[in-house]
Amino acid sequence: MACNIKSHTILKKAPYSDVKRKVDDLLKIMTLKEKIGQMNQYNGFWDVTGPVPSKGSEERKYEDIKAGLVGAMLSVRGAKEVRAVQRIAVEDTRLGIPLIIGFDVIHGYKTISPIPLAEAASWDLEAIKRSAQVAAAEAAAVGINWTFGPMVDISRDPRWGRVMEGAGEDPYLGCEIARARVEGFQGDDLSQTDTIAACAKHFAAYGFSESGKEYNTVDVGTVTLHNMILPPFKAAVEAGVKTFMNAFNDLNGVPATGHEFLLRDVLKGQWGFEGFVVSDWASIKEMVVWGHAENDRDAARLAATAGTDMDMESYAFVAELERLVLDGVVDEALIDDAVRRILTVKYELGLFDDPYRYCDEIREKAVVNCKAHHDAVLDMAKKSIVLLKNEDSILPLKKEGRKVALIGGLAADKNSVLGSWRIASDDHTGVSVLEGMKRYTGNTLVYEKGADVTLGEPRFIEELKINTTDKSGFKAAVATAKTADVVVMVLGEHGFQSGEARSRVDLGLPGVQQELLEAVYSVNTNIVLVLTNGRPLTIPWAAKHIPAIVETWQLGSQAGHAVAEVLYGDYNPSGKLPMTFPKDVGQIPIYYNHKRTGRPVNVAKNVFWSHYSDVDTLPLYPFGYGLSYTSFHYENLWMNKDEYTLGEPIHISIDVTNTGKVKGKEVVQLYIHDVFSSLIRPVKELKGFQLIAFESQETKTVRFTLEQDDLGFYDAEGNYSVELGDFKVYIGGDSTTNLYATFTLV
Ligand code: GLC
Repeated sequence: MACNIKSHTILKKAPYSDVKRKVDDLLKIMTLKEKIGQMNQYNGFWDVTGPVPSKGSEERKYEDIKAGLVGAMLSVRGAKEVRAVQRIAVEDTRLGIPLIIGFDVIHGYKTISPIPLAEAASWDLEAIKRSAQVAAAEAAAVGINWTFGPMVDISRDPRWGRVMEGAGEDPYLGCEIARARVEGFQGDDLSQTDTIAACAKHFAAYGFSESGKEYNTVDVGTVTLHNMILPPFKAAVEAGVKTFMNAFNDLNGVPATGHEFLLRDVLKGQWGFEGFVVSDWASIKEMVVWGHAENDRDAARLAATAGTDMDMESYAFVAELERLVLDGVVDEALIDDAVRRILTVKYELGLFDDPYRYCDEIREKAVVNCKAHHDAVLDMAKKSIVLLKNEDSILPLKKEGRKVALIGGLAADKNSVLGSWRIASDDHTGVSVLEGMKRYTGNTLVYEKGADVTLGEPRFIEELKINTTDKSGFKAAVATAKTADVVVMVLGEHGFQSGEARSRVDLGLPGVQQELLEAVYSVNTNIVLVLTNGRPLTIPWAAKHIPAIVETWQLGSQAGHAVAEVLYGDYNPSGKLPMTFPKDVGQIPIYYNHKRTGRPVNVAKNVFWSHYSDVDTLPLYPFGYGLSYTSFHYENLWMNKDEYTLGEPIHISIDVTNTGKVKGKEVVQLYIHDVFSSLIRPVKELKGFQLIAFESQETKTVRFTLEQDDLGFYDAEGNYSVELGDFKVYIGGDSTTNLYATFTLV
């Protein structure tokens, strides 16, 4: 599927001639050892984001850098520390080739923006791009010139902890956001000191990890691979992304790290990718554990041959590749290609012109955590909030003269709001909901914790202790709620209950939070539930009983202010779900762009149709869903014709009216359905959206144009085609819209 063909970014080429010449000249004078050194990436000496190799490797790392056997580092932080390690590479080695410094700047470095799934809920591509620019500016100010982002893994399984890191279940939205993030990180000139190289990861299909279990196997059909999984990666290439990262999973029996079809046929072949591919942490060596490589030598051979250019922390390339080349097992031309790709990115980053250009301690102090960045992440946070329910307009809250009870351990939590992928931020620096609410002084605000989410304060590399069973705070919380005019309950997940290695099978409110919610409800039903979580949760009881529910995800450094501004109506929520919320874990995978099946409805009034006998087949909240403090009406869906020939643009419009009393923004969504096709197509496919602001009572005519490429799909061999026949075009405020028009492609 070609994502939004109209907005392809024409590949902006660097003045390729002189970079290419410089790289070729350098390659000619490099020894085989030095070439392989460029293909070796070590972790910094204190941070880990994966299994730590045997003790004592730190000393070896210094020695290897001096010997010219290291081309890249990760998790070295701070201008001073980067300068120190860069100096060794530049001044103590024979050729002085600078290191490229990578880091997981997933949603911010020090100033933390909302988790990527939250940002996706904004559908605001400009805000998402700005958020990536802020992250790049701070990273580049502390010596980093390469981020391991954007993660563009499509996923339909909220049991998988890393859904927080991506853009949800839809490939079209995933493409648009991949493009925005790559452009935000890389800007127009990689050599600028506020831009960094981006990395599309994890290539590929990691989001389809079986049963949502972390690091698990992936078996997926090639039609799903080409139509759902690969498009955001292709969009990243078209946006000019400089690097890719492998995935830990196998794809249909072959580890992604050694997958020649993915790396050489698709990425470097069909898509013409000219950057380099880094393995994921130790994923080369893990091919031995998978039972795919006999030993580290075999793993190094398989990875290099398949198209992995750099080895992150498995020591396989630096230990095995030279012998493999000298034995004639691996062609040195493959090494040259990998090193050429790596050196090209280093030249484009300006590292050869000035290896210390990113190590400016004065700029570091001026840029990191600056007000402009906090303003930007606050804006992003407000736009990421999704209003799921608002019965009797309990929201927005009145600003004065009322007693507001604020309940929940997460309401005062300054850490969980930062999410789990924020290894450079400082703990407990997020604005809590309690702090945000305190800014509104017209009401009486009383806070009671009620219950925590987990025991203790888990860190990134620790297993979460069991969820708390302590109910000793219930009594005070219930007493406070009883006399309150309105109760705001902040419930959900601890920041480290989602993210890498955080798969869960129970997606209800962790610990005793559900009991706390029901205990409070028994004395006061005037409850606003504020969810703070890294994934869709199954909250059917709350959805049925609680009058107002706000999805706030993990909103980053300015979380509490964003939540308070929305609760008090200073910002009218405009977010829409980028991922389906199931009613029950048993429904997973559940997603909007599913196929009809042969028995979608119960026509014969018997049991023989596609359903469960214990839960209905509908989600709790569908993809694209989100409410506002106002309301919108859609009418006059118009198409310029009802028959089109191949290649003829299809013009569509709709009148949308803000029928409420306050101004608001709406994400107007356009879906298609290819009614009859050689390969069955989903009941709906997102093919366009526009985020539009409306004054109260204002009507706007919203226009879309579909091109031929928007109507096609890939077959099992990856061939893209558009088939003649009937189509439906749906437009609405979420994926359940039944407002449609039909046309025929002739
Ligand atoms: C981790 C993650 C990857 C990250 C890398 C470096 O295991 O899978 O996304 O970029 O290691 O930290």
